[in-house]
Amino acid sequence: DFTPNAFVEETVEGLRQKIGKEKVVLALSGGVDSTVAAVLLNKAIGKNLYCIFVNNGLLRKNEFQNVLNQYNGMGLNVKGVDATERFMNALAGLEDPEKKRKAIGRVFIEVFDDEAKLIDDATFLGQGTIYPDVIESISVKGPSATIKSHHNVGGLPDFMKLKIVEPLRMLFKDEVRRVGASLGIDPELLGRHPFPGPGLAIRILGDITQEKVRLLQEVDAIFIEGLKEHGLYNKVWQAGAILLPVNSVGVMGDERTYEKVVALRAVASTDGMTADWVHLPYEFLMEISNKIINKVKGVNRVVYDISSKPPATIEWE
Ligand code: XMP
Repeated sequence: DFTPNAFVEETVEGLRQKIGKEKVVLALSGGVDSTVAAVLLNKAIGKNLYCIFVNNGLLRKNEFQNVLNQYNGMGLNVKGVDATERFMNALAGLEDPEKKRKAIGRVFIEVFDDEAKLIDDATFLGQGTIYPDVIESISVKGPSATIKSHHNVGGLPDFMKLKIVEPLRMLFKDEVRRVGASLGIDPELLGRHPFPGPGLAIRILGDITQEKVRLLQEVDAIFIEGLKEHGLYNKVWQAGAILLPVNSVGVMGDERTYEKVVALRAVASTDGMTADWVHLPYEFLMEISNKIINKVKGVNRVVYDISSKPPATIEWE
């Protein structure tokens, strides 16, 4: 049986022995895994852990600043790096989902490497790899496995000759959450929905512009806050909004509009490999749809995705 307290004690002791007085760099993502890994390392080696949190400009509304504040509040030695422009420049004109993913992965590694170089004589790379990531990167399961592989397992560029330290390598997600709770991490952070590394870039169908990102952030924030207000957030495994590359006709007053369509998606799942669309209450969907159309300029139609995985995927790209 898994006991979080014992795991923390043993792991912290093990990390101290393994790392000694050396320095560790770690990329924080705002997600559960990298956060728990960082808190464990922080407990073991304190200021010799250098965390880097990159804003790729594709996070949820206000997420970069909020999460950065939270990390600071937790006493982590963290540097926030706003690389929005570098990501936007690399994405300009790209429409193909895999090209967008590759561009984001490449720029992330460049930005991270630039930052890691500033930390003199770091010898370790800390990673929030968990057991399912290890399995997924060993077995070949098609595109989604290789996609994830460069985000977590072996996300190490060749030119960075760092030793890897992965304190969560043997844990399942629920065990990571339990370890996080026993470390005193905010339950809200531990309960956050999974969010893809390429962020809103794969929820904006077609090419990315800052204006589209801003619009989708507004829509997404209304949806997510609504789920929280109605006590639905924790009943859903993952939720988000998708900006479709079509305009539709609508009316406002006595004027005809021709504006964007957004889709809402909420799924139930245990591991993301299969997923069912969630039967959100009609009343809730009505309220959110009205709010989005009234508050977000440029959107005149909201649809709800009623496809399960398989054969649909959770993301649209
Ligand atoms: P799909 O769309 O394949 O998504 O059903 C399954 C889970 O994986 C996430 N996902 C990604 N995560 N990089 C990531 O880090 C990616 O490129 C990526 N694509 C999908 C998705 O959000 C869902 O949780």
